[in-house]
Amino acid sequence: MTTDKKPLRSNKSYGPKDKDGFIHRSWMKSQGFPPDVFENRPVIGICNTWSELTPCNAGLRDIAEHVKRGVWEAGGLPLEFPAMSLGETQMRPTAMLFRNLLAMEVEESIRGNPIDAVVLLGGCDKTTPGQLMGAASVDLPTMVVSSGPMLNGKFRGRDIGSGTDVWKFSEAVRAGKMSLDDFMAAESGMSRTPGTCMTMGSASTMACLMEAMGIALPYNATAPAVDARRRRIAHETGRLIVRMVHEDIRLSSVLTRRAFENAIRILGAIGGSTNAVLHLLAIAGRLSVPLELADFDRLSADVPLLVDLQPSGRFLMEDLHYAGGLPAVMKELAPLLHVDARTVWGQTIGESFAAAECYNHEVIRTLAEPANSVSGVWVLKGNLCPGGAVIKPSAASRSLFCHRGPAVVFESIEDLRTRIDDPGLLVDSHSVLVLKGCGPRGYPGMPEVGNMPLPRKLLERGVQDMLRISDARMSGTAFGTVVLHVAPESEAGGPLALVRDGDEILFDGPNRRLELLVSPEELAARAETWKLRQSAPKYSRGYYRLYLDHVMQADRGCDLDFLTGSSGSTVDRESH
Ligand code: FES
Repeated sequence: MTTDKKPLRSNKSYGPKDKDGFIHRSWMKSQGFPPDVFENRPVIGICNTWSELTPCNAGLRDIAEHVKRGVWEAGGLPLEFPAMSLGETQMRPTAMLFRNLLAMEVEESIRGNPIDAVVLLGGCDKTTPGQLMGAASVDLPTMVVSSGPMLNGKFRGRDIGSGTDVWKFSEAVRAGKMSLDDFMAAESGMSRTPGTCMTMGSASTMACLMEAMGIALPYNATAPAVDARRRRIAHETGRLIVRMVHEDIRLSSVLTRRAFENAIRILGAIGGSTNAVLHLLAIAGRLSVPLELADFDRLSADVPLLVDLQPSGRFLMEDLHYAGGLPAVMKELAPLLHVDARTVWGQTIGESFAAAECYNHEVIRTLAEPANSVSGVWVLKGNLCPGGAVIKPSAASRSLFCHRGPAVVFESIEDLRTRIDDPGLLVDSHSVLVLKGCGPRGYPGMPEVGNMPLPRKLLERGVQDMLRISDARMSGTAFGTVVLHVAPESEAGGPLALVRDGDEILFDGPNRRLELLVSPEELAARAETWKLRQSAPKYSRGYYRLYLDHVMQADRGCDLDFLTGSSGSTVDRESH
């Protein structure tokens, strides 16, 4: 049983005419498969994160059926299997806590089963990176089909965007500018179909990057979840993945340093989520591709914002698709891309978007007239963040790009929620809001709370943005002058833990500085006091314990330290 190049991996289980082969085949035949499907057919695993608890992935059952059509047509055997589904809006304390658990599950499911290749079906924020991290550590032929974005939200005659308008409406209610009845009406109009957030949130960002890196077909990122074209993409992916087995095209042969560099540049052009920084670092770590936090700043510094989408701009994913989708964006950005980088289907990236056209230059701008000359990710350094911190300048206020002000410190998210609207809180528009205890270990899981609500009394005075600093993440749908991912986090004893009310903080975005203007002697004394206050770990068992013992800081992508690298696909021993 051989293909053109090498024996099928699955043949080790389904080929032998002996006791072990009997065991592997016989139980599979209970599902109605005829005997010949176990002879010389590439077995394609379809790793599905469908779940009713992950509404963004609710369409993936149907998508899996279309992948199967393509696999059967091309002579393969499709076998669907579930993977832990991480619903961003449902899971407590935060879906990010479980991204690495999903990655472990996917890795071992792929390695332990008799499959030759895998199609990853994901969408909601952490499902795509979690699945890809796991698959990368096995390194079989792999493709991605995303859930696709929801149709545009609608509210009283206008479009509204997932997440982005939640933050706006919530602040408007707190400022007394929107009624609670209107707020509740908007809730029903925002999410009208299955699919992922239709702003340029983390899900849309990661779907775009899958396309930019050549492991998902053109238009995978933007075709709406309910559009027939998404089903066609699924069908074609089914055909292609079978061919990839015959040609032995592994993930590692496409996800090279050049592919990551393309992804970082596209991240800038689309105004993508800061969460992608963590995910790309973690995925690169699985493939031993050298990538570090500073690369994000260096590679996106000359990339303008081409896509005018919320939260950095005006439009939504449906508009981006009709305007030409990511291929049209990539074509415009071609002078800054490695156009000779490979795709898993054999074309170069440049060939994959060569025929693309832009049909709406309001949505997809040109390099000559971008939506914003500032984009990408700024990576900050300074005594407040020795391991770095990030900010998304396209979603921040230019008036705050350089700012110095006194800190108003919240020791935890609960502390913030208790005091932020206290009329007696000593805060004004020049203050810098500082939030501790929300890093990878501190929360645990690094939740999306970095875009702290502004104090009600300032909202009522018309203040719309303030400098905010934390070790948390921020939803890709959110906006504001928000410094995130401060490393080391406060829970790990980083300088963030030492900030006190009234300390002066200096933020100099253009020069990438973030400084706590307190003397080294004073900080050393505070560090001694901080150590004495540490108590026993709160979690003593289960995945939480494993995570806390091994999670790396944000500048390393928050993977577990023992999961970096690959273990390959070989399993020597039989099961019986
Ligand atoms: Fe699932 Fe936004 S909450 S994609």
